[in-house]
Amino acid sequence: MKFKNLIYASAMSILLFNCSSDSNDDLAPKEEEIDPDPTAITYDANIKSIFSSNCTNCHGSQPTNGAPTSYTTYTQVKNSIDKIINRINNASNPMPQSGLMSQSLRDDIQQWKDDGLLEN
Ligand code: HEC
Repeated sequence: MKFKNLIYASAMSILLFNCSSDSNDDLAPKEEEIDPDPTAITYDANIKSIFSSNCTNCHGSQPTNGAPTSYTTYTQVKNSIDKIINRINNASNPMPQSGLMSQSLRDDIQQWKDDGLLEN
């Protein structure tokens, strides 16, 4: 019957339309479902190595050479980030004491803070 065919055709087109829009969503998950920000700086990937190369020979788990603090863990560094950013950019009283680190390392630490102090 013509009328039945029409209903059948409309039902099929609704189904097809729904299926195609659903499967598009499945094939292209939203970016935040994969990774909140794939370019964000993290402690594990970017920051820890800056501290182990430049700071922990004094600010080790047992601080030495008169350093008052340990900067060997994510929590220690995160909790002191404002003090740290202040000293690593203080040309007249720098950390490390031997002189300012490169601008790009200092920028990475600032960017880590701006990205939300992610651990990994
Ligand atoms: C050669 C040893 C040495 C190195 C390397 C060194 N520090 Fe220090 N740091 C000290 C000493 C000694 C003090 C205490 C005297 C002062 O404040 O200047 C200190 C103090 C600090 C302070 C202020 C007090 C505190 O601990 O809260 C910060 C912040 C700091 N250092 C961060 C760093 C960072 C970040 C690095 C690496 C980028 C670093 N230091 C590398 C020896 C060092």
